[in-house]
Amino acid sequence: MTSRTSRDVLRRGLSVLGRAIREQPRIFTVAVAGSVLFGLLVIASAYVVGAVVGDVVVPAIEQGSVGVGALALAAGVLLGISVLRVVGIFGRRLGAGFMQYRLQAAYRRRVTRRYLELPLAWHQRNATGTLLSNANSDVEAAWYPIAPLPFAVGTLVMLVGAIASLFATDWALALVGLTVFPALFSLNVVYSRRMAPRQARAQRLRAEVSGIAHESFDGALVVKTMGREAQETARFSGRAGELRDALISVGRLRGVFDPLLETLPSLGTLAVLVVGAFRLRAGAITVTELVSVAFLFTVLAFPVRAIGWVLAELPRSVAGWDRVRRVLDATGEMPYGDHTLDPADPTPATLAFAGVSFAYEPAEAHLPGVQVLGEVSFTVPAGRTVALVGPTGSGKSTIAALAVRLVDPLSGAVELDGVDVRQLTAESLAGTAALVAQVPFVFDDTVRANVTLDRPGIGDEDVWAALRLAEADGFVAALPDGLDTMVGERGTSLSGGQRQRLTLARALAGRPRLLVLDDATSAVDPRVEAAILAALRTPAAGGPAASILVVAYRRATIALADEVIYLEQGRVVARGTHTELLATVGGYADLVTAYEHAETDPKRQRTPDEVTPLASGLEIEVDR
Ligand SMILES: Nc1ncnc2c1ncn2[C@@H]1O[C@H](COP(=O)(O)OP(=O)(O)OP(=O)(O)O)[C@@H](O)[C@H]1O
Ligand SMILES: [Mg+2]
Repeated sequence: MTSRTSRDVLRRGLSVLGRAIREQPRIFTVAVAGSVLFGLLVIASAYVVGAVVGDVVVPAIEQGSVGVGALALAAGVLLGISVLRVVGIFGRRLGAGFMQYRLQAAYRRRVTRRYLELPLAWHQRNATGTLLSNANSDVEAAWYPIAPLPFAVGTLVMLVGAIASLFATDWALALVGLTVFPALFSLNVVYSRRMAPRQARAQRLRAEVSGIAHESFDGALVVKTMGREAQETARFSGRAGELRDALISVGRLRGVFDPLLETLPSLGTLAVLVVGAFRLRAGAITVTELVSVAFLFTVLAFPVRAIGWVLAELPRSVAGWDRVRRVLDATGEMPYGDHTLDPADPTPATLAFAGVSFAYEPAEAHLPGVQVLGEVSFTVPAGRTVALVGPTGSGKSTIAALAVRLVDPLSGAVELDGVDVRQLTAESLAGTAALVAQVPFVFDDTVRANVTLDRPGIGDEDVWAALRLAEADGFVAALPDGLDTMVGERGTSLSGGQRQRLTLARALAGRPRLLVLDDATSAVDPRVEAAILAALRTPAAGGPAASILVVAYRRATIALADEVIYLEQGRVVARGTHTELLATVGGYADLVTAYEHAETDPKRQRTPDEVTPLASGLEIEVDR
């Protein structure tokens, strides 16, 4: 079993290497050429050293005088070989480095690009920590063996050259070589097989450790306020400990095999000297040849290790590659159509849901998906405002996501200006409809960049206009650097309501023709929330010429809508104006008034049944 798996790892590892070579053939050729040059020169240097000893040193000792000319020649040749070897090393190192880092960069780009192409459903199934390590340590691991690969290929050529030169010298010495080299090679193979499971385990644990770390930084607030620091630290150190043990076991294996790999060539040298002494006495070889071969064995030891390095890195490479491939091969991205809508069209868009059903994909493939929307149909006519109201979990955010095509319906269709959103180009979709999500996301950048998101044609004037509409101009003007103020990672330097208004301004700056607000102003006080929606509804007051689909709870906000769609458990149960629904739909009245009570008096926890309608000043002001 083990040997089958490791053979499988070897096969797949070699195919990963093959892919690397196919992607960077020229650099690989340069690196291998450098390495082969180096290998052949190692053999040459052994023979030159042998010649110096046999033809210069030994006669000098015997005759008591040194042949200056011969010595100078030998020194010159050795120097020349060394210079060429430097060139070989340079070519190999540079080529290998280029190849490795280029591949890393290319695959990091591919993986992150893929993240952006993959649908929301895929992201919801994959932990952020895993995605981070896919783009980081997995890509690195996949291409680790590239660094020693050219060296190893050059070494293989060198071993063939060494065996050939041994046969040319003496068959007995060649037999020693034929014993030692394959033994060295096998030792390397055994080494890498033993290494395989250990490296794979370490790579998996690396991802898990980074996942836990990411989650606990992300949830730092919860961890702190709930006093879970100790438990969270324990969870982390448990996994970090496993990673440590995995890496120590890698180190222990290295500790055993490295000395063996070091010793074997020395034993080879010893064997050469013993066998060589007999052959020398028999007159089969010269001193020059004996010294050359003995020297060859000592200089070969190091390059042969390169083969071991490649083999030892293969399991990690395969593990990393598998994880990278999982991202690159992931499916479910939503292909865009080629139908265009003019984003510069000055009229608001019409949004229609026609019998839309939707189910989230199950967490595990064999489980059935849970249907969260059933046959939802409604229209947001051009220039109109429709409010979506429903208890928590009734499917409002899901409808918002469908409206801007973050997800596609199971059946039925979502249409913008009468065109199925699946037929629209990405640009048309982004230029026409804007979603302000329930949870605002603010980039670690300036206020300006957060509003414009580098979209062309949005000047400071437009930014301020958008901020004004979102009632955000006041606080932005009060920031130390105005539009240039950095807002901190995820907008940590802003209040919840400020963050929401900033993301609203971002949506407005793109002049959408359909605005989808998913509870987008929940952290803003009710009076301001109603004022924002009122301004958005009136293009004359600077508001966009947009149709609005708004998820809201507050009576004052809902009352501004032309129509209210009331949802329960993913189905439209009633529609009409706020006043109509209030009078006719019991559940609706309960929900709206309960929310109001909870807001005005957060200490009083009431169930909807206990609540009696209560007229507030605000309600009288806007209720229609
Ligand atoms: N990613 C998801 N995977 C599986 N089920 C989901 C997912 N997101 C939402 N759901 C489920 O779909 C249903 C509708 O969720 P949705 O977020 O649309 O509700 P909502 O009306 O926006 O609620 P809220 O008022 O709390 O924001 C819920 O039952 C929820 O559990
Ligand atoms: Mg929601």
